[in-house]
Amino acid sequence: MPDPAQPQIQANMVIHNIGQLVTVAQQPIRGASGPLQVISHASMAVHDGNIAWIGPDDELEPLFQHSADDSQDGITIVDAQGAVVTPGLVDSHTHLVFAGDRAEEFHLRRSGVGYGELLAQGRGILTTMNATRKTDTNQLLELAKARIDKLRTYGTTTVEIKTGYGLDKVTEEACLRIINNLNALEESSKYQNSQVRVIPTFLGAHVVPPEYRDRREDFVNLVIEEMLPSFVGLARFCDVFCEREAFTLEECRRILSRAKALGYQLKIHADQLSPSGGAALAAELGAVSADHLDHASDADLDALCEAGVVATLLPGCSYTLRSPYPQARRFLDHGLHVALATDFNPGTSYCENMQMILGLAMSLMGMSLEEALTATTINGARALALEDQIGSIEVGKKCELAFWSSNDYHEIGYHFGVNLVKSVLVQR
Ligand code: NIG
Ligand code: FE
Repeated sequence: MPDPAQPQIQANMVIHNIGQLVTVAQQPIRGASGPLQVISHASMAVHDGNIAWIGPDDELEPLFQHSADDSQDGITIVDAQGAVVTPGLVDSHTHLVFAGDRAEEFHLRRSGVGYGELLAQGRGILTTMNATRKTDTNQLLELAKARIDKLRTYGTTTVEIKTGYGLDKVTEEACLRIINNLNALEESSKYQNSQVRVIPTFLGAHVVPPEYRDRREDFVNLVIEEMLPSFVGLARFCDVFCEREAFTLEECRRILSRAKALGYQLKIHADQLSPSGGAALAAELGAVSADHLDHASDADLDALCEAGVVATLLPGCSYTLRSPYPQARRFLDHGLHVALATDFNPGTSYCENMQMILGLAMSLMGMSLEEALTATTINGARALALEDQIGSIEVGKKCELAFWSSNDYHEIGYHFGVNLVKSVLVQR
């Protein structure tokens, strides 16, 4: 019988027998992470997609009219079978809509040809642009759907996706519509309890396309005057590639200032291949995140910290380009919010797997398990300005969870090269 003194919880789903519920942290974390909040032998109740209650298993039953061993009165009962449960992973930086691959260039780079060198030869991003422009929308959508299916199996429940392989108005718009469709398809999908949330970003300023090679200012004007105003409502963020091989600091400032005035939130590919001034620009314009930052100076990190910009580190690029890994301790010691993401793309990081990124961060970037988990959940959410809704397990937040095939979360990053995620559970 329910304890009359206990308030009853309204719920349409109860998850019990969770071996370790790793709730992470209520707020995004600046700098080093201390111990994570972990509840052993835990349960949780969910109502209309929101977490309604969290606590130890033995406190669950008195809260409900009936025992937690079958489905009654429309309440779905989920037995976690002692699994570790964490927030679903947040992949806050991908370029997931494209056709073709760049295996040939990958192997050329093994023999010493540089990434920038390939781009200067009209390859790299332009190879993918050519393949993407030639592929019809349905095919692009199918390719993207398959990639979402893959990243879901590795525990991702929210993914940001950028355009940037169309580079003309028609194809950029088609790619943005695909990204929005992916979200709609997920919402109504057969994956009743595992719909991935998709966040669209417009990255028209990825590189200057060949037809504008000798009149780059016209391309920047096209982005500012035609693309940005017509894509309002289709993209939440505007991003730019601020780099010697791509767009100058001043071009990026013009594009992002216009985007901000139109209501986009901002991201920047900053200081990836060389010191580009991108981090300082992110701070100046109040971007939500600055990403890559391999060549950012200490002054840049101070400016990002002061402006509250998330530093998103992307070790998949270091792995693929065989360049030094960003040293996360430096960013953490500056008191920054550090996020980690895959940067999934066919050139510099062909990887859908956030567990790989967690592992690289712990083994090669000096992050602890606690910091890496924070960076792939609540701080990833902050990199998408979604920290009030997702990224940690707490009452009032969305129920977006990863179930791990382990009963000890310390296995994450330690047991590597395998998929430790059993499934995700999303209640929208
Ligand atoms: O984040 N740096 C710019 N964009 C991607 C690479 C895209 C590509 O090579 O296709 C990145 O690394
Ligand atoms: Fe990127």
